[in-house]
Amino acid sequence: MTTHQQGCVAVTGAGSGIGAATARVLARSGRAVLLLGRRVDALEQVADEIEQEGGRSLAASCDVADEHATRTAIDRGIERFGGVEGLVNAAGIMPVAPIPEADPADWRRILEVNVLGSLHAVAAVLPGMLERGTGHILSIGSVAGHTLFPDATVYCASKSALHVVSEGLRAELARRQREDGNRIRVTLIAPGAVDTALPETIAHEPSREATRTWYERMNGILQPSDIAETVRWAMDAPEHVSVNEITVRPTEMVR
Ligand SMILES: NC(=O)c1ccc[n+]([C@@H]2O[C@H](COP(=O)([O-])OP(=O)(O)OC[C@H]3O[C@@H](n4cnc5c(N)ncnc54)[C@H](OP(=O)(O)O)[C@@H]3O)[C@@H](O)[C@H]2O)c1
Repeated sequence: MTTHQQGCVAVTGAGSGIGAATARVLARSGRAVLLLGRRVDALEQVADEIEQEGGRSLAASCDVADEHATRTAIDRGIERFGGVEGLVNAAGIMPVAPIPEADPADWRRILEVNVLGSLHAVAAVLPGMLERGTGHILSIGSVAGHTLFPDATVYCASKSALHVVSEGLRAELARRQREDGNRIRVTLIAPGAVDTALPETIAHEPSREATRTWYERMNGILQPSDIAETVRWAMDAPEHVSVNEITVRPTEMVR
């Protein structure tokens, strides 16, 4: 096992699903992991599992929609591990509903968590990465960032925005590279259906039932570990290789 002594990888949404699986896989690869999310008990459970396997982690709870709280939690990781070498933006919610039946508070929350939450984490880790001239920022987008799913319009808009932010950040850092020599890489991973608790964040009952049924009927739905391994693969690429975007669908998923 390679041991990455420098800094940690901050993973948002690390208490469950894709974030938790990614934290476990990265810890097994020798990286220290900073676990971020709102539920302390969920984060501590993942931290315990990592520790039992001999890995290094720190649970720091925060709501990524809160810029100050996100920065404070990330600063705890910097203090413990000496810096942040990587960020995985996996925190997200999907309270979908048809627009005429939706609660506008849900629209606001989707954008605050899925888009601004990712930017808050980027803002907290980027100065240190620019100072060291190295780092890797990965975000979990979605096929919903490319394809419109009716009744999930605002969720699709949030993922589409995250795709643009990721590509914009990549281009801005690449342009600066000639002046400051930074080797910061930016990656967006766009999964199709993954077997997680995400559909449970849907309050609109018909939408929740439709999503659950769609997931249940899919043969070979992706597992969180499938996406976690994709994250690890992109991070393990040599520093001059910037894997920019990967779409991963269950083999039978059409769009
Ligand atoms: N499952 C899929 O089919 C699928 C497909 C494509 C993309 N994705 C994306 O994958 C990412 C991970 O989702 P998942 O499928 O793994 O579902 P999940 O198990 O529900 O994970 C989402 C995580 O985000 C955290 N979170 C939610 N709101 C937060 C906030 N305000 N601040 C901090 N953390 C917050 C949750 O923890 P707390 O509640 O404790 O905060 C939870 O651990 C999401 O961005 C999702 O959009 C999922």
